Amino acid sequence: MAQKTAQLSIDGHSETITLPVHTGTEGPDVIDIGKLTAQGYFTYDPGFVSTAACESSITYIDGDQGILLHRGYPIEQLAEHSNYLELCYLLINGELPNAEQQSTYVDTIKHHTMVHEQLRFFFNGFRRGAHPMAILCGVVGALSAFYHDSLDIDDETHRQITTNRLIAKMPTLAAMSHKHASGQPFMYPRNDLSYAANFLYMMFGNPCEEYVVNPVLAKAMDRIFLLHADHEQNASTSTVRLAGSTGANPYACIAAGISALWGPAHGGANEAVLKQLNEIGSVKNIDKFIKRAKDKDDPFRLMGFGHRVYKNYDPRAKVMQQTCHEVFAELGVEEDPLLKTAQRLEQIALEDEYFVERKLYPNVDFYSGIILKAMGIPVDMFTVIFATGRTPGWIAHWNEMISGPYKIGRPRQLYKGPTKRDYADIKTR
Ligand code: CMC
Repeated sequence: MAQKTAQLSIDGHSETITLPVHTGTEGPDVIDIGKLTAQGYFTYDPGFVSTAACESSITYIDGDQGILLHRGYPIEQLAEHSNYLELCYLLINGELPNAEQQSTYVDTIKHHTMVHEQLRFFFNGFRRGAHPMAILCGVVGALSAFYHDSLDIDDETHRQITTNRLIAKMPTLAAMSHKHASGQPFMYPRNDLSYAANFLYMMFGNPCEEYVVNPVLAKAMDRIFLLHADHEQNASTSTVRLAGSTGANPYACIAAGISALWGPAHGGANEAVLKQLNEIGSVKNIDKFIKRAKDKDDPFRLMGFGHRVYKNYDPRAKVMQQTCHEVFAELGVEEDPLLKTAQRLEQIALEDEYFVERKLYPNVDFYSGIILKAMGIPVDMFTVIFATGRTPGWIAHWNEMISGPYKIGRPRQLYKGPTKRDYADIKTR
């Protein structure tokens, strides 16, 4: 088939500029503007609303239909039939593992869960009560100082080892961040437990007594990790790619991704949702907060609603809602006032003209915070859990970029500052 093109005519530019148009396996066609700079133009797209910054084969989202596919598999099917580590394998390797590959992979991850003993001393530098996301940014970046034996980004084996180390060590570091912040002793990982159960053990166990992980909660934790595993070119993944495009080591890139995730418009939303639900307090106050969310002069936003890509129900939120009911039934807290407030808020927002018109649906963070709170996870750990779950996505995208031809990421700008002027001596200013 002939290459599709787009014609661009610009006032004052004598010729029409022809641009190639690429067609993906799914999604809208993409106009390739890469050569436009040679014609003397840049494009302008704050927030990258219409800009594809890379080619990728990992995850596809159709925001209008509410579809999320990982390597082609719908998230609903993965949530029902798969598990987090299998999804990690799929995201990184491109195909589901067979039984032997799966068993080897699980075994490999289990045998990388401990962190270098010296890394424990890093935690002492953080004050007790520090936000665990602050600790996580620091200690993940510090990993590059410990595992410099495998930092050659052009060596496929090194990349593989680093990928395994990151996926295996994130729950250990996440739990250590919590233990340090709350003044409790660190718990070493247990290789007889599943990935999610081990995380809960390291979070809630203590050396004084046996801690038995509730299997319903371990399953819910696994699903929470799974639902966060990847989401194509979101702000934190794009940050990982941008940092990686300079040739920076992968631990530094993931630390950059963790920092980008922290903001309340992105992964910090789960913490913000819970704080907001507590602020709302009860069903009778909802109208007041909905009114504020709709007021153009009030910067207040309803946290857990809206998404840059989804203009339909976030498919992850639907699965999360189901998990929420399973966890509440197990813990016998179905009458929890927080859940009641959340359910009523969702109902009101889904019917309200302002939210309907703008296609503002509940997103993944709306329900994840409520579940995590019910499981006894401290609120400041919510984004840390998001970061742990998102690690395979970050590393899969980093790997995809490094394995192929790539350029340093370097956006341009629309300059609005002063034109050239002469330096003025301080006496004349
Ligand atoms: N509450 C009230 N109004 C909202 C909200 C909200 N949560 N989200 C968007 N709007 C309005 C916004 O004021 C604007 O209205 P108008 O057209 O009248 O000016 C319109 O909807 C479009 O909003 P936008 O800010 O242009 O949309 P965006 O794509 O730039 O922002 C978002 C997406 C997720 C940052 C935003 O919806 C938001 O701030 N939501 C709350 C935070 C949140 O839940 N974030 C988690 C995202 S999902 C997990 C993740 O990917 O990390």
